[in-house]
Amino acid sequence: MRDRWSSTTLFIFAAVGSAVGLGNIWRFPYLAGKYGGGSFLIPYLICLIVIGIPLLLMEFAIGQKLQKGAIDAFKTVNHRLRGIGFASIFSGFVVVVYYAAVMAWTIVYLVQSFSPQLPWAGQAKDYFFGNVLQLSDGIGAIGGINWVVFAGLAVAWILIYFSVWKGVKSAEKVVAITMPLPMILLVILFFRAITLEGALTGILAYITPNFSALLDTQIWIDAASQIFFTLSLAFGIMIAYASYNEKEDIRKTGYVTALSNSLISIFSGFVVFAVLGYMATQTGALVSDLSTSGPGLAFVVFPEALSLMPWANFFAVLFFLTLLSLGIDSAFSLVEAVNTTIFDRSNGTSKSVIAFLVCFVAFLLGILFTTNAGLYFLDVIDHYVVNTGLILVGLLQVLAIGWIYGADKLRAYINATSKGRLGKWWTYSIKYVIPIILTVLLFIQIKTDIMVPYEGYPMWAQALGAATVLVPLVVVAVLALVPVDTKAKL
Ligand code: PHE
Repeated sequence: MRDRWSSTTLFIFAAVGSAVGLGNIWRFPYLAGKYGGGSFLIPYLICLIVIGIPLLLMEFAIGQKLQKGAIDAFKTVNHRLRGIGFASIFSGFVVVVYYAAVMAWTIVYLVQSFSPQLPWAGQAKDYFFGNVLQLSDGIGAIGGINWVVFAGLAVAWILIYFSVWKGVKSAEKVVAITMPLPMILLVILFFRAITLEGALTGILAYITPNFSALLDTQIWIDAASQIFFTLSLAFGIMIAYASYNEKEDIRKTGYVTALSNSLISIFSGFVVFAVLGYMATQTGALVSDLSTSGPGLAFVVFPEALSLMPWANFFAVLFFLTLLSLGIDSAFSLVEAVNTTIFDRSNGTSKSVIAFLVCFVAFLLGILFTTNAGLYFLDVIDHYVVNTGLILVGLLQVLAIGWIYGADKLRAYINATSKGRLGKWWTYSIKYVIPIILTVLLFIQIKTDIMVPYEGYPMWAQALGAATVLVPLVVVAVLALVPVDTKAKL
């Protein structure tokens, strides 16, 4: 008997919980800052509407209609396509291995926030790179394991394990807390942030558009891949989650999930930029200089700003608790997609045993990110798997559903479940618009990566990153050539 969500609300909580994560609170504002604030919002919103919402509806519909996780769902579409499901799960697994490392840093900061004097006060950058990460000079200098981060990673995996060990039933108990809690915390931080001196300077930088940035192709790739990342698309997650529904209104739940996720991103952008404005006023720096530090945004600029605030400890605890609770339901959604896949093809192995093995293997692999070169590995792998891998898997999915399963057939199903009507536009976007856009973006990204090796990392590191894209691609190709043995599981 398939697991079921206890209610529509819990399904939406789980879907929003997966979508809203670390991607919303540091990745989105950092991208906004990278392109001069408001100008990123335009491609972001366009990609949300043109790519994100149609694809989310597609994933919800396949999962709920076929009542299967990603691999079996694509196998039902055509047995030669089962590799697409595998590729989604594989990318998700790669992401969660490093996502947990980011959670590990959060845990380290959370613990440190209880020290009487915040230890990073006045030296947030050195503290992050030197004390927390103990970062080496380059990706080749792996050094050793950093035991503090290692301990954080272990705690992260224990938290994740106990969220998923009983499948949907334990996951929904956790999301009932981890979904609303960060929202409340964010609102508190918002009011604190906008009342800081200089907040307006930051907010203005955030909302003032710079239209010339729209001509940069990279802004469109960043916006599209951010949409995949933030809506947890192309990972098999939304397919797995919707497969635990009997008959939900796909159109409504899809819109609610997509819109609340983006509202939260835009809202946390206000918090982050208000704080940046405060920092800029305090230190005499420019908001634009402060906002372009990538992973540093959450772990350098924010701690620094927090330490400058009255009630520093209280707000630091609040902030890292927010990050952690945002991260945890995203992380376990990735694990749950892997577990569901293995569970569906194991003969009666209990879900908690499978969950344990998956978490343990992911923890072991994640140790790479606790070394002195951990951040470099994280950076290069994230680049390939998000900017190329997700767009590629998304393209394969949309082609399979649009052209082989039949977009109109799926639209008819969506309309049968929904009160409102999903128009013909959806069919066109699944069949033509999205495949064309994704092909162009993919082409540009691959060309850029070949011409300019990402961040100047050595070839072996590029190869490692590229492997996260090539391995699933080879599996897709091989499984497409090998017809399914009806008794075999894969
Ligand atoms: N959507 C989550 C975020 O924005 C991350 C995530 C990606 C979760 C992929 C699941 C799958 O942080």
